[in-house]
Amino acid sequence: MRIAVVGSGYVGLVAGACFADLGHEVILVDNDQQKLAALRSGQVPIHEKFLPELLGRHRGNRLTFSDDLKEAAQLSAAIFVAVGTPPTERGEADLSYVESVAREISGGIDDYKVVVEKSTVPVYTSEWVRRIILRNGIDSDCFDVASNPEFLREGTAVTDFLFPDRIVVGCDSERSAQLMREIYAPLTDGSYYQRTDAIPGPDRAAIPPPLIVTSTKSAELIKHASNAFLAMKISFINAVASVCESVGADVNQVVHGIGTDSRIGGRFLNPGIGYGGSCFPKDVMAFRAVARESGYDFRLLDEVMRINEDQRQRFLRKIYNALWTLRGKKLGVLGLAFKGGTDDIRESPALFLVQSLLQEGSKITAYDPAAMDRARNVLGTSISFAGSSYEAARGADALLILTEWEEFATLDLNRLRQELKFPIVIDGRNLYDPDVMSAQGFTYYSIGRTASHPDGIPTPVAKNGKKA
Ligand SMILES: NC(=O)c1ccc[n+]([C@@H]2O[C@H](COP(=O)([O-])OP(=O)(O)OC[C@H]3O[C@@H](n4cnc5c(N)ncnc54)[C@H](O)[C@@H]3O)[C@@H](O)[C@H]2O)c1
Repeated sequence: MRIAVVGSGYVGLVAGACFADLGHEVILVDNDQQKLAALRSGQVPIHEKFLPELLGRHRGNRLTFSDDLKEAAQLSAAIFVAVGTPPTERGEADLSYVESVAREISGGIDDYKVVVEKSTVPVYTSEWVRRIILRNGIDSDCFDVASNPEFLREGTAVTDFLFPDRIVVGCDSERSAQLMREIYAPLTDGSYYQRTDAIPGPDRAAIPPPLIVTSTKSAELIKHASNAFLAMKISFINAVASVCESVGADVNQVVHGIGTDSRIGGRFLNPGIGYGGSCFPKDVMAFRAVARESGYDFRLLDEVMRINEDQRQRFLRKIYNALWTLRGKKLGVLGLAFKGGTDDIRESPALFLVQSLLQEGSKITAYDPAAMDRARNVLGTSISFAGSSYEAARGADALLILTEWEEFATLDLNRLRQELKFPIVIDGRNLYDPDVMSAQGFTYYSIGRTASHPDGIPTPVAKNGKKA
């Protein structure tokens, strides 16, 4: 099938490349000429495992790039809209990009097409998209609007797309539902997984995902509710971690104990410095706004956001507790992106912490395996960038671990101790065992666990994050 994907960002580019790998002919549309030129010339503008391979396979044949949305719409049976939906000042989703795309698409609708929302949008957006297209003079028989929310995670986006737990498709007509079934058939009938050239997936790869057909409104709500629930899980465990710190319990043991309950599950129960990225913060806010608008006061979501904000402040206080004063202190920082495995620094808690520490007068040398170019655009020369974790640690008063890259969890601890001026590690991602760290000669602080010291004397319990 010929498909247009509008927006070649983290979602659109991955979706387009994966649709091409499923056998479809894909036109990727973007209005960013620089991005298009980079894509055409063989560059891969984002860091995602397997994406270079997929682009290499399909670029120029099943995957082409264009800035002509009208023509792409004309040529395609389905048009996936994957443009950004950033937050407005009031916390609502800014749908102006979606609206302008809907208007432009109208010019290309000359026979039946399905316009598919791939962007995360509030409930009723499909209604608005429909209205815009009708207002532009298109007959209602000529198109349907469907919702196909995307659940991929940056860092594992390609495998998430090709090996999803489920595919949600919101359709208000059987005709559009049928077209969506055809698009995803290579996944739902399992044929993709039989191919010898299929991208390798996780262990459960052999099980074809179910395709869940709902109304468009339900599909829109499924996406917002999923993200809000996951953010709630993260804030919940961070709140539990704070209690653990107050009473001297170990949050990792608590996570193991509750996460093995199959009703709860262990995923997204990783205590840390709070969620970030381009999705959770804006989607929780937008869902809060949608609920308010619809007459329901979803105060639980206020608390999810408050705990998340607080978690960064608690980590800052932890650094104070470890170092007493920050002015003039030299700090090594591992991780700048909002999480490991990605180069995305949007709403990154790591970046927030770095900027706060700079304001306190600290000097920072940071290392991130993928996000340094993007971070340099924001931080400029206010910090130094290192070529490795050890270089970031060199001569530092303490090392901060802010994202959970695998390579940060497997450092040579002997070498690290020798590089640091003082063997102090403040770990915002709980990558190490406190006992191992103290045995290796480190003073080690983490989240929801008692600090450990080389002499084995535990730190006095900190109450409410303040110095004991
Ligand atoms: N990033 C994620 O992990 C993720 C996961 C699931 C859902 N989402 C949702 O998907 C949507 C896109 O997110 P993203 O992270 O890919 O955004 P992004 O900012 O990386 O990409 C958006 C792209 O759309 C392009 N664009 C904007 N207006 C356009 C127009 N009028 N015509 C053509 N192109 C246009 C931009 O140039 C950009 O390349 C958002 O709604 C987001 O909430 C994101």
